[in-house]
Amino acid sequence: MKTCCYHHNFFCEDRVVADLSKDNLRQNYLVIQKQLKTGQKILPMVKADAYGHGATWVAKQLLNMPNLYGFGVATLEEGRDLRLALGERNTQIKIIIFSGCLPWCDSICYFCKKFDLTAVISSDEDWLVFYKHKWPGRISYELKFNTGMNRLGINLDFSKNIIQNLKNKPVKCHPQGVLSHLSCAENPGFHLSRQQLWHFEELIKYFSVFDGTCFHLANSAAIWNAKEWKIHELTHVVRPGISLYGILPWAGAPHKGLKPVLRLKSKVIAIHDLHAGEYVGYGGSYLAKKKHRIAVLAIGYADGLHRSLGGINNGNAAWSCGKVWLSEKFCSILGIINMDLCVVECSRATKVGDDAVILGPPIDIWEQAKKAHTVPYELLTSLSKRVKRNYV
Ligand SMILES: Cc1ncc(COP(=O)(O)O)c(C=O)c1O
Repeated sequence: MKTCCYHHNFFCEDRVVADLSKDNLRQNYLVIQKQLKTGQKILPMVKADAYGHGATWVAKQLLNMPNLYGFGVATLEEGRDLRLALGERNTQIKIIIFSGCLPWCDSICYFCKKFDLTAVISSDEDWLVFYKHKWPGRISYELKFNTGMNRLGINLDFSKNIIQNLKNKPVKCHPQGVLSHLSCAENPGFHLSRQQLWHFEELIKYFSVFDGTCFHLANSAAIWNAKEWKIHELTHVVRPGISLYGILPWAGAPHKGLKPVLRLKSKVIAIHDLHAGEYVGYGGSYLAKKKHRIAVLAIGYADGLHRSLGGINNGNAAWSCGKVWLSEKFCSILGIINMDLCVVECSRATKVGDDAVILGPPIDIWEQAKKAHTVPYELLTSLSKRVKRNYV
Protein backbone atom coordinates (compact mmCIF):
# COMPACT_ATOMS: atom_id res chain seq x y z
CA MET A 1 0.00 0.00 0.00
CA LYS A 2 1.30 3.43 -0.90
CA THR A 3 0.10 6.61 0.79
CA CYS A 4 -0.13 9.58 -1.54
CA CYS A 5 0.39 13.06 -0.12
CA TYR A 6 -0.76 16.34 -1.62
CA HIS A 7 -0.69 19.94 -0.46
CA HIS A 8 -4.02 21.07 0.80
CA ASN A 9 -5.63 24.17 2.17
CA PHE A 10 -8.58 23.74 4.50
CA PHE A 11 -9.33 24.09 8.19
CA CYS A 12 -9.99 20.98 10.21
CA GLU A 13 -13.33 22.44 11.30
CA ASP A 14 -14.45 22.06 7.69
CA ARG A 15 -14.16 18.28 7.86
CA VAL A 16 -17.94 17.83 7.65
CA VAL A 17 -20.13 20.69 6.44
CA ALA A 18 -23.84 20.94 5.72
CA ASP A 19 -24.59 23.79 3.31
CA LEU A 20 -28.15 25.02 3.86
CA SER A 21 -29.89 27.12 1.24
CA LYS A 22 -32.46 29.68 2.38
CA ASP A 23 -33.54 30.26 -1.24
CA ASN A 24 -34.41 26.59 -1.63
CA LEU A 25 -36.25 26.56 1.71
CA ARG A 26 -38.42 29.52 0.70
CA GLN A 27 -38.93 28.11 -2.78
CA ASN A 28 -40.16 24.82 -1.28
CA TYR A 29 -42.60 26.72 0.93
CA LEU A 30 -44.00 28.36 -2.22
CA VAL A 31 -44.17 24.99 -4.00
CA ILE A 32 -46.32 23.76 -1.10
CA GLN A 33 -48.42 26.91 -1.09
CA LYS A 34 -49.13 26.49 -4.80
CA GLN A 35 -50.85 23.19 -4.07
CA LEU A 36 -53.27 24.77 -1.59
CA LYS A 37 -56.51 26.65 -1.91
CA THR A 38 -56.39 30.44 -1.46
CA GLY A 39 -56.29 31.28 2.23
CA GLN A 40 -55.19 27.83 3.42
CA LYS A 41 -52.41 28.15 5.96
CA ILE A 42 -49.07 26.40 6.39
CA LEU A 43 -47.68 25.08 9.66
CA PRO A 44 -44.02 24.16 8.98
CA MET A 45 -42.90 21.26 11.15
CA VAL A 46 -39.60 22.32 12.72
CA LYS A 47 -39.36 19.57 15.33
CA ALA A 48 -36.06 17.72 15.85
CA ASP A 49 -34.18 20.93 15.07
CA ALA A 50 -36.11 21.24 11.81
CA TYR A 51 -35.13 17.73 10.70
CA GLY A 52 -31.48 18.60 11.35
CA HIS A 53 -31.58 21.90 9.43
CA GLY A 54 -31.70 24.18 12.50
CA ALA A 55 -35.13 25.17 13.87
CA THR A 56 -34.28 28.78 14.62
CA TRP A 57 -32.76 29.35 11.20
CA VAL A 58 -35.68 27.69 9.38
CA ALA A 59 -38.30 29.58 11.41
CA LYS A 60 -36.54 32.92 10.86
CA GLN A 61 -36.37 32.35 7.09
CA LEU A 62 -40.10 31.61 6.97
CA LEU A 63 -41.43 34.27 9.38
CA ASN A 64 -42.54 36.61 6.63
CA MET A 65 -43.87 34.05 4.21
CA PRO A 66 -47.54 34.32 3.20
CA ASN A 67 -50.19 32.24 5.00
CA LEU A 68 -47.94 31.10 7.83
CA TYR A 69 -50.04 29.50 10.61
CA GLY A 70 -47.21 28.96 13.09
CA PHE A 71 -44.51 26.36 13.75
CA GLY A 72 -44.82 22.75 14.92
CA VAL A 73 -42.36 21.20 17.38
CA ALA A 74 -42.40 17.94 19.32
CA THR A 75 -41.26 18.84 22.82
CA LEU A 76 -41.78 21.61 25.36
CA GLU A 77 -38.07 22.38 25.34
CA GLU A 78 -38.06 22.71 21.54
CA GLY A 79 -40.99 25.10 21.87
CA ARG A 80 -39.36 27.20 24.59
CA ASP A 81 -36.06 27.43 22.70
CA LEU A 82 -37.81 28.52 19.53
CA ARG A 83 -39.94 31.07 21.39
CA LEU A 84 -36.85 32.59 23.02
CA ALA A 85 -34.97 32.58 19.71
CA LEU A 86 -37.82 34.35 17.87
CA GLY A 87 -37.80 37.06 20.52
CA GLU A 88 -40.29 39.61 21.74
CA ARG A 89 -41.18 40.98 18.32
CA ASN A 90 -42.69 37.65 17.27
CA THR A 91 -44.83 36.67 20.23
CA GLN A 92 -47.92 36.49 17.97
CA ILE A 93 -46.44 33.51 16.06
CA LYS A 94 -48.02 30.27 17.20
CA ILE A 95 -45.69 27.49 18.38
CA ILE A 96 -47.51 24.18 18.74
CA ILE A 97 -46.22 21.33 20.92
CA PHE A 98 -47.18 18.08 19.21
CA SER A 99 -46.13 15.28 21.53
CA GLY A 100 -44.50 16.93 24.54
CA CYS A 101 -47.68 17.51 26.54
CA LEU A 102 -48.29 13.94 27.69
CA PRO A 103 -49.19 12.89 30.28
CA TRP A 104 -50.94 16.12 31.11
CA CYS A 105 -50.20 17.94 34.37
CA ASP A 106 -50.59 21.51 35.58
CA SER A 107 -46.87 22.23 35.39
CA ILE A 108 -47.08 21.69 31.62
CA CYS A 109 -49.78 24.37 31.52
CA TYR A 110 -47.67 26.81 33.49
CA PHE A 111 -44.78 26.11 31.11
CA CYS A 112 -47.00 26.72 28.05
CA LYS A 113 -48.38 29.90 29.60
CA LYS A 114 -44.93 31.22 30.46
CA PHE A 115 -43.53 30.67 26.96
CA ASP A 116 -46.74 31.27 25.04
CA LEU A 117 -46.89 27.78 23.58
CA THR A 118 -49.96 26.05 22.15
CA ALA A 119 -50.58 22.69 23.81
CA VAL A 120 -51.95 19.69 21.94
CA ILE A 121 -54.26 17.62 24.14
CA SER A 122 -53.98 14.02 22.96
CA SER A 123 -55.89 11.67 25.25
CA ASP A 124 -59.27 11.38 26.98
CA GLU A 125 -57.60 11.38 30.41
CA ASP A 126 -55.58 14.49 29.59
CA TRP A 127 -58.72 16.34 28.55
CA LEU A 128 -60.39 15.45 31.86
CA VAL A 129 -57.52 16.90 33.90
CA PHE A 130 -57.12 19.89 31.57
CA TYR A 131 -60.82 20.71 31.82
CA LYS A 132 -61.21 19.98 35.54
CA HIS A 133 -58.34 22.33 36.37
CA LYS A 134 -60.01 25.07 34.28
CA TRP A 135 -57.27 25.47 31.69
CA PRO A 136 -59.51 26.10 28.64
CA GLY A 137 -59.47 29.86 28.21
CA ARG A 138 -56.25 30.28 30.12
CA ILE A 139 -53.89 28.86 27.49
CA SER A 140 -54.08 28.27 23.75
CA TYR A 141 -54.70 24.60 22.88
CA GLU A 142 -55.62 22.23 20.08
CA LEU A 143 -57.21 18.77 20.22
CA LYS A 144 -55.65 15.76 18.53
CA PHE A 145 -57.90 12.78 17.71
CA ASN A 146 -57.09 9.18 17.00
CA THR A 147 -58.71 8.37 13.67
CA GLY A 148 -56.99 5.00 13.23
CA MET A 149 -53.25 5.34 13.63
CA ASN A 150 -53.50 4.28 17.29
CA ARG A 151 -50.50 6.26 18.41
CA LEU A 152 -51.68 9.47 20.10
CA GLY A 153 -55.11 11.04 20.11
CA ILE A 154 -58.41 11.41 21.91
CA ASN A 155 -60.93 8.68 21.09
CA LEU A 156 -63.63 9.75 18.67
CA ASP A 157 -66.41 8.67 21.05
CA PHE A 158 -65.05 11.07 23.62
CA SER A 159 -65.58 14.13 21.41
CA LYS A 160 -69.20 14.42 22.57
CA ASN A 161 -68.03 14.87 26.18
CA ILE A 162 -65.67 17.66 25.13
CA ILE A 163 -68.35 19.43 23.15
CA GLN A 164 -70.71 19.11 26.10
CA ASN A 165 -68.05 20.54 28.44
CA LEU A 166 -67.46 23.55 26.19
CA LYS A 167 -70.99 24.18 24.97
CA ASN A 168 -71.85 27.28 26.94
CA LYS A 169 -68.32 28.52 27.42
CA PRO A 170 -66.99 31.74 25.86
CA VAL A 171 -65.07 31.53 22.57
CA LYS A 172 -61.72 31.95 24.32
CA CYS A 173 -62.26 28.51 25.91
CA HIS A 174 -62.70 26.73 22.58
CA PRO A 175 -59.89 24.74 20.92
CA GLN A 176 -57.99 26.72 18.28
CA GLY A 177 -57.53 23.60 16.24
CA VAL A 178 -58.76 20.05 15.78
CA LEU A 179 -56.35 17.64 14.14
CA SER A 180 -55.43 14.08 13.39
CA HIS A 181 -52.43 12.33 11.84
CA LEU A 182 -52.37 9.89 8.93
CA SER A 183 -50.87 6.45 8.95
CA CYS A 184 -50.54 5.95 5.15
CA ALA A 185 -50.78 9.42 3.65
CA GLU A 186 -48.94 8.26 0.53
CA ASN A 187 -51.59 5.61 -0.02
CA PRO A 188 -55.02 7.26 0.21
CA GLY A 189 -56.72 4.26 -1.40
CA PHE A 190 -55.74 1.89 1.42
CA HIS A 191 -58.71 0.84 3.56
CA LEU A 192 -57.19 2.31 6.74
CA SER A 193 -56.82 5.61 4.89
CA ARG A 194 -60.49 5.58 3.87
CA GLN A 195 -61.41 4.90 7.48
CA GLN A 196 -59.22 7.76 8.75
CA LEU A 197 -60.75 10.19 6.27
CA TRP A 198 -64.24 9.15 7.18
CA HIS A 199 -63.52 9.61 10.90
CA PHE A 200 -61.99 13.00 10.26
CA GLU A 201 -65.11 14.08 8.39
CA GLU A 202 -67.17 13.05 11.42
CA LEU A 203 -64.95 15.16 13.67
CA ILE A 204 -65.46 18.16 11.44
CA LYS A 205 -69.21 17.74 11.73
CA TYR A 206 -69.00 17.65 15.54
CA PHE A 207 -66.53 20.50 16.03
CA SER A 208 -67.96 22.86 13.44
CA VAL A 209 -70.24 24.07 16.25
CA PHE A 210 -67.26 26.15 17.38
CA ASP A 211 -66.62 29.08 15.06
CA GLY A 212 -63.02 29.70 14.12
CA THR A 213 -61.65 26.22 14.92
CA CYS A 214 -59.01 25.22 12.34
CA PHE A 215 -58.96 21.64 11.08
CA HIS A 216 -55.73 19.99 10.02
CA LEU A 217 -54.65 16.56 8.88
CA ALA A 218 -52.07 16.74 6.08
CA ASN A 219 -48.36 16.01 6.23
CA SER A 220 -46.28 16.30 3.02
CA ALA A 221 -47.55 13.06 1.47
CA ALA A 222 -51.17 14.09 2.04
CA ILE A 223 -50.50 17.51 0.48
CA TRP A 224 -49.12 15.65 -2.56
CA ASN A 225 -52.38 13.65 -2.58
CA ALA A 226 -54.54 16.67 -1.72
CA LYS A 227 -57.43 15.68 -3.95
CA GLU A 228 -57.76 12.14 -2.60
CA TRP A 229 -57.54 13.39 0.99
CA LYS A 230 -59.98 16.28 0.29
CA ILE A 231 -57.45 18.65 1.82
CA HIS A 232 -58.93 21.68 0.07
CA GLU A 233 -62.48 21.05 1.22
CA LEU A 234 -61.86 19.76 4.73
CA THR A 235 -58.86 21.56 6.17
CA HIS A 236 -57.69 25.09 6.92
CA VAL A 237 -54.05 24.26 7.64
CA VAL A 238 -51.40 21.80 6.38
CA ARG A 239 -48.34 20.53 8.28
CA PRO A 240 -45.45 19.90 5.89
CA GLY A 241 -42.10 18.65 7.17
CA ILE A 242 -39.98 16.68 4.75
CA SER A 243 -41.18 18.49 1.59
CA LEU A 244 -40.30 21.84 3.09
CA TYR A 245 -36.72 20.59 3.28
CA GLY A 246 -36.89 19.70 -0.41
CA ILE A 247 -37.24 15.94 -0.05
CA LEU A 248 -39.95 14.05 -1.93
CA PRO A 249 -42.71 12.78 0.40
CA TRP A 250 -42.06 9.23 -0.85
CA ALA A 251 -39.49 7.72 -3.21
CA GLY A 252 -40.56 8.50 -6.76
CA ALA A 253 -43.21 11.12 -5.86
CA PRO A 254 -43.72 13.93 -8.41
CA HIS A 255 -41.20 16.54 -7.52
CA LYS A 256 -43.18 19.68 -8.40
CA GLY A 257 -40.11 21.93 -8.13
CA LEU A 258 -38.80 20.93 -4.68
CA LYS A 259 -35.09 21.52 -4.13
CA PRO A 260 -33.10 19.95 -1.28
CA VAL A 261 -32.18 22.56 1.32
CA LEU A 262 -29.26 20.61 2.76
CA ARG A 263 -26.10 19.36 1.07
CA LEU A 264 -23.74 17.33 3.26
CA LYS A 265 -20.07 17.25 2.29
CA SER A 266 -16.89 15.86 3.77
CA LYS A 267 -13.22 16.35 2.94
CA VAL A 268 -10.77 13.83 1.57
CA ILE A 269 -8.00 13.73 4.18
CA ALA A 270 -5.83 10.89 2.79
CA ILE A 271 -5.45 8.82 -0.37
CA HIS A 272 -3.94 5.34 -0.78
CA ASP A 273 -3.20 2.97 -3.63
CA LEU A 274 -4.54 -0.41 -2.63
CA HIS A 275 -3.20 -3.63 -4.21
CA ALA A 276 -5.11 -6.82 -4.83
CA GLY A 277 -5.27 -8.80 -1.57
CA GLU A 278 -5.07 -5.76 0.73
CA TYR A 279 -7.81 -5.00 3.26
CA VAL A 280 -9.50 -1.81 4.44
CA GLY A 281 -10.67 -0.91 7.91
CA TYR A 282 -11.78 -2.70 11.09
CA GLY A 283 -12.25 -6.41 10.78
CA GLY A 284 -10.74 -6.45 7.29
CA SER A 285 -14.20 -5.63 6.07
CA TYR A 286 -13.19 -4.82 2.50
CA LEU A 287 -10.73 -6.83 0.41
CA ALA A 288 -9.29 -5.37 -2.80
CA LYS A 289 -9.65 -7.76 -5.74
CA LYS A 290 -7.49 -5.58 -7.98
CA LYS A 291 -5.27 -2.54 -7.68
CA HIS A 292 -7.25 0.63 -7.11
CA ARG A 293 -7.20 3.96 -5.37
CA ILE A 294 -9.10 4.79 -2.18
CA ALA A 295 -9.79 8.03 -0.30
CA VAL A 296 -10.31 8.53 3.43
CA LEU A 297 -13.15 10.94 4.26
CA ALA A 298 -13.33 12.84 7.53
CA ILE A 299 -16.87 11.72 8.36
CA GLY A 300 -18.11 8.84 10.49
CA TYR A 301 -21.11 7.65 12.42
CA ALA A 302 -20.53 10.24 15.17
CA ASP A 303 -21.31 12.86 12.54
CA GLY A 304 -24.46 11.02 11.53
CA LEU A 305 -23.21 8.84 8.67
CA HIS A 306 -25.12 5.64 9.30
CA ARG A 307 -22.90 2.62 9.89
CA SER A 308 -25.28 0.56 7.79
CA LEU A 309 -24.03 2.44 4.71
CA GLY A 310 -20.68 0.64 4.92
CA GLY A 311 -19.83 -1.73 2.06
CA ILE A 312 -18.68 -5.11 3.31
CA ASN A 313 -16.88 -7.31 0.81
CA ASN A 314 -14.08 -9.51 2.14
CA GLY A 315 -14.69 -12.96 0.75
CA ASN A 316 -16.78 -14.05 3.76
CA ALA A 317 -19.60 -11.54 3.48
CA ALA A 318 -20.79 -8.97 0.99
CA TRP A 319 -23.46 -6.35 1.10
CA SER A 320 -24.14 -3.25 -0.83
CA CYS A 321 -23.20 0.16 0.38
CA GLY A 322 -23.93 3.85 0.21
CA LYS A 323 -22.34 6.07 -2.39
CA VAL A 324 -20.72 9.48 -2.32
CA TRP A 325 -20.14 11.91 -5.19
CA LEU A 326 -16.40 12.52 -5.58
CA SER A 327 -14.33 13.78 -8.53
CA GLU A 328 -17.46 13.81 -10.74
CA LYS A 329 -18.22 10.14 -10.07
CA PHE A 330 -20.47 8.07 -7.83
CA CYS A 331 -18.03 6.23 -5.51
CA SER A 332 -18.87 3.34 -3.18
CA ILE A 333 -18.17 3.40 0.54
CA LEU A 334 -15.69 0.59 1.27
CA GLY A 335 -15.61 -1.37 4.53
CA ILE A 336 -17.06 -0.55 7.93
CA ILE A 337 -17.86 3.09 8.72
CA ASN A 338 -15.93 4.27 11.79
CA MET A 339 -16.82 6.87 14.40
CA ASP A 340 -14.91 9.68 12.66
CA LEU A 341 -13.85 8.32 9.29
CA CYS A 342 -14.86 6.28 6.32
CA VAL A 343 -13.15 5.02 3.16
CA VAL A 344 -14.43 5.36 -0.38
CA GLU A 345 -13.24 4.34 -3.81
CA CYS A 346 -11.80 7.22 -5.84
CA SER A 347 -10.03 8.01 -9.10
CA ARG A 348 -6.67 9.41 -10.18
CA ALA A 349 -8.31 12.85 -10.30
CA THR A 350 -9.08 12.84 -6.55
CA LYS A 351 -6.86 14.99 -4.34
CA VAL A 352 -6.55 15.54 -0.58
CA GLY A 353 -8.84 18.46 0.29
CA ASP A 354 -11.49 17.56 -2.28
CA ASP A 355 -15.11 17.52 -1.20
CA ALA A 356 -17.24 14.40 -1.37
CA VAL A 357 -21.01 14.91 -1.35
CA ILE A 358 -22.83 12.50 0.95
CA LEU A 359 -26.39 13.90 0.89
CA GLY A 360 -27.87 16.28 -1.64
CA PRO A 361 -27.52 16.53 -5.41
CA PRO A 362 -26.44 14.45 -7.18
CA ILE A 363 -26.82 11.94 -4.33
CA ASP A 364 -30.49 11.06 -4.03
CA ILE A 365 -31.41 10.90 -0.36
CA TRP A 366 -34.13 8.26 -0.89
CA GLU A 367 -31.54 6.00 -2.60
CA GLN A 368 -29.03 6.60 0.19
CA ALA A 369 -31.70 5.92 2.81
CA LYS A 370 -32.70 2.67 1.09
CA LYS A 371 -29.09 1.45 1.29
CA ALA A 372 -29.10 2.25 5.01
CA HIS A 373 -32.46 0.44 5.46
CA THR A 374 -34.07 3.63 6.64
CA VAL A 375 -35.81 6.79 5.43
CA PRO A 376 -34.49 10.31 4.69
CA TYR A 377 -36.03 11.54 7.97
CA GLU A 378 -33.60 9.41 9.97
CA LEU A 379 -30.56 10.34 7.88
CA LEU A 380 -31.30 14.04 8.37
CA THR A 381 -32.14 13.94 12.07
CA SER A 382 -29.01 11.86 12.75
CA LEU A 383 -26.67 14.68 11.72
CA SER A 384 -24.83 15.52 14.91
CA LYS A 385 -23.72 18.84 16.31
CA ARG A 386 -20.22 18.07 15.03
CA VAL A 387 -21.49 18.84 11.50
CA LYS A 388 -20.76 22.49 10.76
CA ARG A 389 -23.90 24.21 9.43
CA ASN A 390 -23.10 26.70 6.71
CA TYR A 391 -26.15 28.87 6.08
CA VAL A 392 -26.12 30.35 2.58
C1 LIG B 1 -48.16 15.34 13.65
C2 LIG B 1 -47.26 15.51 12.46
N1 LIG B 1 -47.67 16.31 11.46
C3 LIG B 1 -46.90 16.51 10.36
C4 LIG B 1 -45.66 15.91 10.24
C5 LIG B 1 -44.83 16.18 9.02
O1 LIG B 1 -44.67 15.04 8.24
P1 LIG B 1 -43.82 15.05 6.89
O2 LIG B 1 -42.41 15.33 7.32
O3 LIG B 1 -43.97 13.68 6.34
O4 LIG B 1 -44.37 16.12 6.03
C6 LIG B 1 -45.22 15.05 11.25
C7 LIG B 1 -43.93 14.37 11.13
O5 LIG B 1 -43.64 13.34 11.59
C8 LIG B 1 -46.04 14.86 12.40
O6 LIG B 1 -45.66 14.06 13.41
